[in-house]
Amino acid sequence: MRRYIYLSLLIAVFLSACGVDSNVQNAPQAGQNPLEIPELLDSRDTPEIELVMQNGRHEFYAGVQSETMGFNGNYLGPTIRLYKDTDATITFTNDIGEPTTVHGHGLHVPGEMDGGPQSVIQPGESWQITIPVRQEAGTSWYHPHMMGKTAHHVHAGLAGLYLIEDENSQALDLPKEYGVNDIPLVIQDRSFTDGKMNEYAVAEQQIKNGLREDTLVVNGIVDAYHTVPDGWVRLRLLNGSNARFYRFSFADNATFHKIATEGGFLNQPVAMTYIDMAPGERNEIMVDLSDKSNAALIADLLRADSEEADLWDEDTPKALVVELRVDPTLQASGTLPETLNDIAYFERADATQIRTISLDMEVRGGTEENKDMFGINGQAMDMGFINERIKKGEVEIWRITGQRMPHPFHLHGASFQILTLNGEPPTEADRGWKDTVVVWDEVTEIIVRFDYEATEEFPFMYHCHMLEHEEYGMMGQFTVE
Ligand code: C2O
Ligand code: CU
Repeated sequence: MRRYIYLSLLIAVFLSACGVDSNVQNAPQAGQNPLEIPELLDSRDTPEIELVMQNGRHEFYAGVQSETMGFNGNYLGPTIRLYKDTDATITFTNDIGEPTTVHGHGLHVPGEMDGGPQSVIQPGESWQITIPVRQEAGTSWYHPHMMGKTAHHVHAGLAGLYLIEDENSQALDLPKEYGVNDIPLVIQDRSFTDGKMNEYAVAEQQIKNGLREDTLVVNGIVDAYHTVPDGWVRLRLLNGSNARFYRFSFADNATFHKIATEGGFLNQPVAMTYIDMAPGERNEIMVDLSDKSNAALIADLLRADSEEADLWDEDTPKALVVELRVDPTLQASGTLPETLNDIAYFERADATQIRTISLDMEVRGGTEENKDMFGINGQAMDMGFINERIKKGEVEIWRITGQRMPHPFHLHGASFQILTLNGEPPTEADRGWKDTVVVWDEVTEIIVRFDYEATEEFPFMYHCHMLEHEEYGMMGQFTVE
């Protein structure tokens, strides 16, 4: 035993002398630029919310203008706060000069309000929806879903957050001050030439692996810092990248707590030191900064183009997400509750239908030109074809597998629960309400009840949320009637 301790000590000394553990240090930990916090539009103060999609110019690097798109601005869009059991009216106006749509990713609404590829807004026109908010508190988002243009429009900057609040979220003693200790982080990767954002372009390799770029952009800012109070801080993370997966952690390896997945709070906080997130996923985490002067949230830029369940290795490049600078003069508020939610779990026996879904990297007859490279169950996305027909109010199990690499599988119109994750039972951290889940080549089973109608005219989509895979066929449509 003693011999073993000496041996490990020796190895540890040797490794640190060689700088082997220096990968822990190699991410920048100091931000240069103040984080931007998207404007908050509260549906209680603004009963009729107007969002205009426009072409803009955004400075990622001082003095250099990049051509971008945004809602009511140059890049990204306002955060919209919605309240359960109220209705909110939003008008989306298209001023980008080409057709697009606006999908509410994570919203529980009927197909005609979902903003899928059928709900095209022509240039100069508007699309108005009145959302009956009936789902529990959570973090959703909006982005275009135009056939053949989703990846392009999201990349240009068209995305924003919906924060849904309910009685529970308002009663919990959480950090709740938007932008102060309840901080939205829209995390994306972009690349730049002389400070100018490279426009969206993909070659065959990027279509296959998904577009992955080298520079992290958070709320439109590179190398961001943000000043926070010296208490609990709540971060709402959205992986808004086209295809990049991330592993988030703090530079000092601090423990933080995951409190929510896409569709609501977990029952209890789950302590962790890192969290992996695929495109489309949202998680809320909380970290206690009461005895710190700063904390750097770091992202490992995962590759996600291999079949290995662990996409991380020692050489994974790292980047700063945001440096949190603690200012003790700011008033801290909120704490980490012991209990957050009381999720009603489905039972396998509740399901009346089991569907098998395979995310295919090769579809027979597909070519790059016709965008039918990929598919689902052997079928590339076809707006004229309904892949699945679902009975409203029924509980279903979907058994999903992927090919060649992990794929973030996303379903419109409902939140689901995970029964099996890549062949294993989910851990507590994955037992929340979700709408996007990473699927590997072992089966992932989700259980879901479809409560919202979607007709053939306005069906729901299900697809891989690596936007290049979605654009090139890995998407299908279903009705709920
Ligand atoms: Cu976030 Cu079908 O999309
Ligand atoms: Cu995919």
